[in-house]
Amino acid sequence: MSETYQFDLAVIGAGPGGYVCALKAAQRGLKVLCVDRRETPGGTCLNVGCIPSKALLHSSERLHEASTEFEALGIEGVTPKLNLTRMMERKSRVVADTVKGIGYLFRKNAVTFRVGEAALTGPHALTVGGEVITAASIVIATGSAPVSLPDVAFDEKQIVSSTGALALDAVPGRLAVIGAGVIGLELGSVWKRLGSEVTVVEYGDHVAPGFDRGLGKQFQRSLEKLGLKFHLSSKVTGIEKRADSVSLTVQPVGKEETRTIEADVVLIAIGRRAYTDGLNLSAVGIETDRAGRIPVDQSFRTSCPGIYAIGDVIAGPMLAHKAEEEGLALAEQLAGRVGHVPYDAIPSVIYTQPEFAMVGKTEEQLKSEGVAYRTGSFPFMASARARAIGATEGGVKVLTDEKTDRVLGVHILGACAGELIAEATLAMTFRASAEDIALACHAHPTLSEALKEASLGAFDRPLHL
Ligand code: FAD
Ligand code: NAI
Repeated sequence: MSETYQFDLAVIGAGPGGYVCALKAAQRGLKVLCVDRRETPGGTCLNVGCIPSKALLHSSERLHEASTEFEALGIEGVTPKLNLTRMMERKSRVVADTVKGIGYLFRKNAVTFRVGEAALTGPHALTVGGEVITAASIVIATGSAPVSLPDVAFDEKQIVSSTGALALDAVPGRLAVIGAGVIGLELGSVWKRLGSEVTVVEYGDHVAPGFDRGLGKQFQRSLEKLGLKFHLSSKVTGIEKRADSVSLTVQPVGKEETRTIEADVVLIAIGRRAYTDGLNLSAVGIETDRAGRIPVDQSFRTSCPGIYAIGDVIAGPMLAHKAEEEGLALAEQLAGRVGHVPYDAIPSVIYTQPEFAMVGKTEEQLKSEGVAYRTGSFPFMASARARAIGATEGGVKVLTDEKTDRVLGVHILGACAGELIAEATLAMTFRASAEDIALACHAHPTLSEALKEASLGAFDRPLHL
């Protein structure tokens, strides 16, 4: 342990990046402080992100299932009715239990957790609520914040970010969503299932940017079947707030005319920005890049020796598991060991119904990089298990190197895609070929057989197609 400083390590931010880094470093024997301005550790993910959104997705899916699918399953006599207050209470309980778990882990591993606003005062010093604290190393894990349109402020009642959209106290009659990315689609589908009329305005010409374009078309059709209305290639150029409604001016890209969309609530989900407000980066000579992120080298070192940064506040996908991997790798490094983040195999999941998941490269990326590749596909329609559980939408697509058969990307649209992608991620992490996946025995009948079949298709042909 350092004799010069109060702590070996001070972590600013107790989100998935910060709390994981703090825990691992403490498990490796370092004396660790973790600071967050929130009283409840867990950051955006546990408090107002991953966890509450998945709780509401689950509740709204069960309501929808009971209302629309039970009869076909041979279940009668169930008349489901929404109790929004109870649904929100359950969501809050799930969040409270999860953040309590982080507090427990901090205590178990002797991490000191301090609530307060941290600001840097030097390479080895920070203040927390006025008190100066010194540490041999400092990790900035301050995360991200939602972006709004120019001159439009979130009031979290009528004009909401994801935070407001996770806590509405009544179902809006008309919900307008700006952005058909992850947040817009997840939360748009929640409120649609709870009874809102949902209209999504997206600047790009397709939904779910960054995901497979072919499966993305099927994905859009599934969301339209649920009742979401899309205005693609359209830009919101103005928002006017009235006493009890909001009016959006929407302009199709490249056209003069505009149209108006009236809504009771508008969710702005057009991305997030790295958050460094109030950190006093200038005191340690750290400059952010044009996107407001903190530049770091491969070992997460900032331009100031002794200060590191991880998670949403640095470049890369803004995902909880990416932040966690960086937290783990950095903690190992700080403890004198080796840390590694498998950046080529970080999965991404949209937790709608069907789920949309991917790992590795898309076809568009491989084409633009001039990589010769093969494709193997298998639709869930041809899976016995998918038919048995009434989940035949979507399918699996495996992309491999034409010469070596190494898996370069896997894309899955369908029930449990977020779970199924783990096998593909493991395969890619260990640089498996499609033949390796196809040779592994998959339990029958499972949805995972579709990955085996698609893998077969990439170098030979699927068996059941
Ligand atoms: P954060 O989780 O943002 O944590 C940063 C912490 O730093 C915050 O608690 C903040 O209070 C604190 N902080 C900031 N500045 C200071 C300061 N000066 N002093 C003290 N404390 C400070 N990702 C997924 O992988 N899967 C999902 O399903 C998913 N769902 C999401 C749903 C929503 C609605 C949103 C908004 C995000 C979702 N994400 C999801 C993204 C995920 O939440 C983030 O990628 C993740 O939280 C980033 O972790 P982090 O540790 O970098 O930062
Ligand atoms: P996003 O980047 O996923 O999507 C934003 C969308 O808004 C894009 O499609 C973009 O083209 C569109 N857009 C931008 N400006 C626009 C405008 N003026 N008018 C119309 N459309 C416009 O961002 P989102 O959904 O806000 O999510 C932020 C981050 O949170 C993402 O990076 C994501 O990784 C993370 N997140 C992850 C989740 C998950 O892993 N399941 C769930 C929720 C969030």
